[in-house]
Amino acid sequence: MESESVAKAAHCLLLPFPCQGHVNPMLQLLKRLEHEGVRVTLVLHRFFSKKFHKIPTSIATEYISDGFDNGGFEEAESYKIYFQRSRQVGTQTLGELIEKLYRSGNSVDCIVYDSHLSWVLDVAKRFGILGASFLTQNLAVDSIYYHVKKGKLQIPLLEQSVLLPGLPLLAPKDVPSFLCDNESYPAMLDYILDQFSNIEDADWVLCNSFYELETDVAEWFTKILPKLRTIGPTIPSMFLDKRLEDDDYGCALLKSEECIKWLDERKKGSVCYISFGSMATLNEEQMGEIACALRDSDCCFLWVVRTTEECKLPKDFVKKSEKGLIVTWCPQLQVLAHEAVGCFVTHCGWNSTIEALSLGVPMVAMPQWTDQTTNAKYITDVLKMGLRAPADEKGIVRRESLKNCIKEMMETENGKEMKKNALNWKTLATKAVDEGGSSDRNITEFVSTLLDI
Ligand code: UDX
Repeated sequence: MESESVAKAAHCLLLPFPCQGHVNPMLQLLKRLEHEGVRVTLVLHRFFSKKFHKIPTSIATEYISDGFDNGGFEEAESYKIYFQRSRQVGTQTLGELIEKLYRSGNSVDCIVYDSHLSWVLDVAKRFGILGASFLTQNLAVDSIYYHVKKGKLQIPLLEQSVLLPGLPLLAPKDVPSFLCDNESYPAMLDYILDQFSNIEDADWVLCNSFYELETDVAEWFTKILPKLRTIGPTIPSMFLDKRLEDDDYGCALLKSEECIKWLDERKKGSVCYISFGSMATLNEEQMGEIACALRDSDCCFLWVVRTTEECKLPKDFVKKSEKGLIVTWCPQLQVLAHEAVGCFVTHCGWNSTIEALSLGVPMVAMPQWTDQTTNAKYITDVLKMGLRAPADEKGIVRRESLKNCIKEMMETENGKEMKKNALNWKTLATKAVDEGGSSDRNITEFVSTLLDI
């Protein structure tokens, strides 16, 4: 009986873009789909599976190639070459994988693919499989790129402010960085915009955001893309959705007893957590300024400095003391959920942003590039749960500015107000994923289509 129902269950491939900030939300979606009875296979790029944190063995995993199996982007001569070849080799190897699965009686009903891999939809259509594009950034950012792709917004956006449906007025510093400087990363920009080249043809468009967070832009976007559904925040269950008890797909990948133990010994709200995600690189001058701001501030700090960035720390900087701890990686969600953490100095990657708001932690925004500038605008002016640390004319946030922002966040009435707003967002995020909430209903609707196949 059981094997019959397993054989009948819809089979879905999940194909993330190969970097940490895109794999994390896809893993959470995977877990939810499995919980709902959908049979799921995770499809990873070969280079990514070698380089990054281990994927739990309980997840059925298959591999495709981007033509650079040893180093991915880093192995290619340029982004342009990488994107061209990865599309071509990806198309071929994904097709071979679908055929292999079909031959083994494991045929595929749907592919959920990161929107950055728009070519996957062509493969899905070729095999008569449903294609669901997964937008891992927020709707505001997606809307801006969509307008550019459809020729409704001319770039570069150097001086004029931008007003788009459902969005606040955006100054050039608030739009995704590639749109102001379209010369530095032309291939990257083309690739990002390509997400919207065939999005109207996708059977579903899922987004890691929630209706209450981006109501106006969600209303506008669903008129353009009726199949768009918000399903976020895709945060590991132990933090939000209590129905799913086992947490091994998210946090356990990144376990670090040391920093949680260190936080356990700190007072409530006394620690500033600081991290710049998995990709951003800061220059030595900026690292020095941050180090001095943390050293001179009155609070404790937990600072994630990735191994590749460690050489930029001031030589005499102490890595572990009563006041501060530096780690190369941490279980970020556990850290943000810890009561010792009072504020989060962040580069404003979308995962970090939605994780912090879902856990009620106010932020000091230090955006570096890509969508982070727009996320920073939202954190400060729309969500009203953070401050943007001002940079000087060289683009460096100086120690005094950062120190003042941290102080304001941790010690003033304004800081308390932002904490209150953050907790309000936490309540709304929890409701969205809870049974009957906006994102929960959208996932249920998506799953019932799959189970009806
Ligand atoms: C990238 C882009 O930079 C970002 O702008 C885009 O929105 C998504 O892709 P990344 O820079 O890594 O992502 O930032 P972010 O989106 O914040 O994702 C980082 C992820 O790594 C988060 O899920 C965070 O919880 C996790 N993380 C980070 C850890 O688990 N431990 C750490 O020490 C640091």
